[in-house]
Amino acid sequence: MSEGTARVAIVTGAARGIGAATALRLAQDGFAVAVLDLDEAAAKGTVESIEAAGGRALAVGADVSDAEQVEAAVSRIAAELGAPTVLVNNAGVIRDNMLFKMTDADWDLVMNVHLRGAFLMTRAVQKHMTEAKWGRIVNLSSTSALGNRGQANYSTAKAGLQGFTKTLAIELGKFGVTANAIAPGFIQTEMTKATAERMGIPFEDFVKGAAAQIPVARVGQPEDIAHLVSFFVSEGAGFVSGQVVYAAGGPKA
Ligand SMILES: NC(=O)c1ccc[n+]([C@@H]2O[C@H](COP(=O)([O-])OP(=O)(O)OC[C@H]3O[C@@H](n4cnc5c(N)ncnc54)[C@H](O)[C@@H]3O)[C@@H](O)[C@H]2O)c1
Repeated sequence: MSEGTARVAIVTGAARGIGAATALRLAQDGFAVAVLDLDEAAAKGTVESIEAAGGRALAVGADVSDAEQVEAAVSRIAAELGAPTVLVNNAGVIRDNMLFKMTDADWDLVMNVHLRGAFLMTRAVQKHMTEAKWGRIVNLSSTSALGNRGQANYSTAKAGLQGFTKTLAIELGKFGVTANAIAPGFIQTEMTKATAERMGIPFEDFVKGAAAQIPVARVGQPEDIAHLVSFFVSEGAGFVSGQVVYAAGGPKA
């Protein structure tokens, strides 16, 4: 599609990791991409990479858990790039701890970023999708949705996102909008690096240990998830909705 007619995608938490790889991939696929993250300066790095590869992108600083910032960000994106009809709710944080040590703040932050964030972003963007009678929503869940030691907050949020996804699929289907969730296993990013640090294990050893448990004998890379997002948002995927795909290098989390 030529400039001006390209569909517009928003990827949250796209300054780095899975979000950055997804933003790059969607730009390659022909979307104009809003690279949204807490820090606009960090998001600019992803925008530069997209532009260097010949794509079109906009860096947007916003906290997805803040309703006013979300409304302002989506309005700005609609004005500067065009009406967004693809939304990838990827922004995420971890605050791992065993239940007996988990603080109220650890619980609230994780719920707010993943659940409130996905809710606020989706509510703000859905009007553009329903007006266009076309849209694609992809939510980042996790294998942790099935339960994971030290992640009572995160696993709850990631399981919640699966229910959110299925309800969006039911409510928005008649407008040509699909909603799906991706539940990645171990992906090599700053997030898994932080987990290794917390556990006092060198990241390289942590990655090797994880790979040994994975049937395809390697950990995932951000591009593995970006590839699946690319499928879900594609024109041809319009009959696939309300699904959760576990992308974990094997059948088990
Ligand atoms: N890395 C993994 O193994 C893995 C596995 C399963 C699911 N996930 C999920 O995939 C997503 C991306 O993970 P990642 O590994 O790339 O993480 P990451 O920590 O590398 O990147 C997350 C990005 O989200 C941004 N962010 C955090 N809070 C935000 C907020 N309130 N508003 C806007 N942006 C915010 C951060 O600034 C950061 O750029 C997350 O939802 C994560 O839970 C990751």
